[in-house]
Amino acid sequence: MLAQAWNSKTYYNDELVREIYDELGLIPEENNIYNSFIDLLEDNFDLDGKNIIEVGGGHIPRLSKRLLTSNENIGVIRVYDPKLSRYEKNTSRLKLYHHEFTENCSHIEGTDLLIGLMPCSGTYALVKSAVDNEKEFMVALCEGGYNDDIYDYEDKKELWLESILTLAKKSGKIGVDYDTLAKYDDDYPVIYSKKR
Ligand SMILES: C[S@@+](CC[C@H](N)C(=O)[O-])C[C@H]1O[C@@H](n2cnc3c(N)ncnc32)[C@H](O)[C@@H]1O
Repeated sequence: MLAQAWNSKTYYNDELVREIYDELGLIPEENNIYNSFIDLLEDNFDLDGKNIIEVGGGHIPRLSKRLLTSNENIGVIRVYDPKLSRYEKNTSRLKLYHHEFTENCSHIEGTDLLIGLMPCSGTYALVKSAVDNEKEFMVALCEGGYNDDIYDYEDKKELWLESILTLAKKSGKIGVDYDTLAKYDDDYPVIYSKKR
């Protein structure tokens, strides 16, 4: 019951708690927000053979770890986050970068898809880099944007969404759409773009 409560956006204030619960297998699979993001990814992209960058993977990169377990055909996932735990280890398919992702990321060339589950202020760099390099992406929004993490999404919903959508639509070669994880009690939009 407690694990289920923390799975919801409404109840966790610290993503670390959610990540630890998930690492320990305490979040029910059917209510798991990482699974819901993965379902949306798989509905929209063929992940086989794809190299992925995850921006803002958190302390324990649960999304990428789950992705690699759920699909053994995914190539390499590179996770960027200054908060990544020092106890998390690189593997042949999971590469961890303990610093921020920036628009000048050197691995972008060999990357097919950029993803982020609520990467806060990292959202802008993720979308800008994807657009500039004509890469596909999917990002679930949270706080962040031009003003960094200082305001709540609910207060500036339209402005934040509009600024990211405007940026995302700058590439003529990728189509932009959005969805939500509302059935998981998270109303933040998920923006994704696919090559036409
Ligand atoms: C709300 S947490 C989400 C963590 C994880 N995706 C999850 O859902 O469990 C946002 C994370 O984004 C990271 N972050 C913010 N800006 C970033 C950037 N430019 N590059 C990489 N990570 C960033 C923060 O350090 C933080 O760990």
